[in-house]
Amino acid sequence: MTTRRVVLVRSAAVVGAASTGLLLPQIARAQSSRIRVGFMLPYTGAYAPLGVAIENGVRMALNEKGGKLGGREIDWFKLDDESEPSKGVENASRLVQRDKVDVLIGTVHSGVQMGIQKVVREAGVLNIIPNAGVHAATRALCAPNVFRTSFTNSQPTLALGKPMMDKGLKRAAWITWKYAAGDEAFEGFRDSYTKAGGTIVKELGLPFPNVEFQALLTEIASLKPDAVACFFAGPPAAKFMRDYAAAGLKDKIQLWGSGFLTEGVLDAAGPAAEGVMTTMHYSDSLDTPRNRQFRLDYAKTFRLQPDVYAVQGYDSGLLLALGMAAVKGDFANRQALYKAMETAAIDSPRGKWTMSKSHNPIQDIYLRRVENKENKVIGIAAKALADSGAGCKMA
Ligand code: BEZ
Repeated sequence: MTTRRVVLVRSAAVVGAASTGLLLPQIARAQSSRIRVGFMLPYTGAYAPLGVAIENGVRMALNEKGGKLGGREIDWFKLDDESEPSKGVENASRLVQRDKVDVLIGTVHSGVQMGIQKVVREAGVLNIIPNAGVHAATRALCAPNVFRTSFTNSQPTLALGKPMMDKGLKRAAWITWKYAAGDEAFEGFRDSYTKAGGTIVKELGLPFPNVEFQALLTEIASLKPDAVACFFAGPPAAKFMRDYAAAGLKDKIQLWGSGFLTEGVLDAAGPAAEGVMTTMHYSDSLDTPRNRQFRLDYAKTFRLQPDVYAVQGYDSGLLLALGMAAVKGDFANRQALYKAMETAAIDSPRGKWTMSKSHNPIQDIYLRRVENKENKVIGIAAKALADSGAGCKMA
């Protein structure tokens, strides 16, 4: 599909005047005082609902702040990255060079993020990562202008191994998509599970976004582990849980995962998701006034139930608004802007979190169980968990 650019908010008068070269001085001033924010997210493909939820979350946060950033009107740009890593650099360059965005919000897929990372590091453009967990973004390739509001890929699974062992599940198989998100989620699982004394009997994988799980499920059945742990996300995760149940594994071999497995897909997965255990930095059932209000407002505005992706988008909006308020809209004052973002304490629906030195959230990870189509919190699996930030040297 061809890449689309949509300018979502822009005064027709200004666009008309600009295109005829007749900009009046006061209009030129008003235009230059606007801030340009670009979404680079998947709007088609396996992760399309994740992209939509993130955009909704960002818009909701900024609408709550009066629809401006540090008093400046916003021009929005939007680009579908299709979760296609081979187009990551080209698409990020479109937003940065052609559309001249001041802020790039994106993306979901770790491979695509590597393209964004290259472009924004070279151009010095502010990048807020609202999902993609690729380690390098806040480790070896960290940068003063890159902030992540989500997680690193191994953060949720670093909290997974111990509760599995606490339940007496001593032998586990791992299954995932073979790309950075799955491979790095495995690192967290491997480290936490083996440290707790568990044995990983097999690592299974298939390419993203393949959903032909049957042969691997047959292999799992023959391995007879105590449990299966996994990383899948988006609508394909619902298919994985349905196929797992249909293969007769659900009642024999407990299914555990990084919490993305059950985010935003509980209706689609149906009874196949009931009882699935996960670890994640959010839960729909968090019984706090902040989360209850967020869920109510989101459902009213978008006629959809929010999930972790919506929360990460919302927190991206909060972070940007907070930074821009601190510099009173003076985007050129990067030092003060980044300082404010770096030292932010975000009052999120997920609970309060802060930013690590390498610009990744320090956050609680919850243990959850699917009950009646809800990710029910069982407890806190890891308190204020930070990523190692290994190799990060801020310039
Ligand atoms: C990733 O590619 O980093 C990713 C995608 C979906 C959910 C979680 C991580």
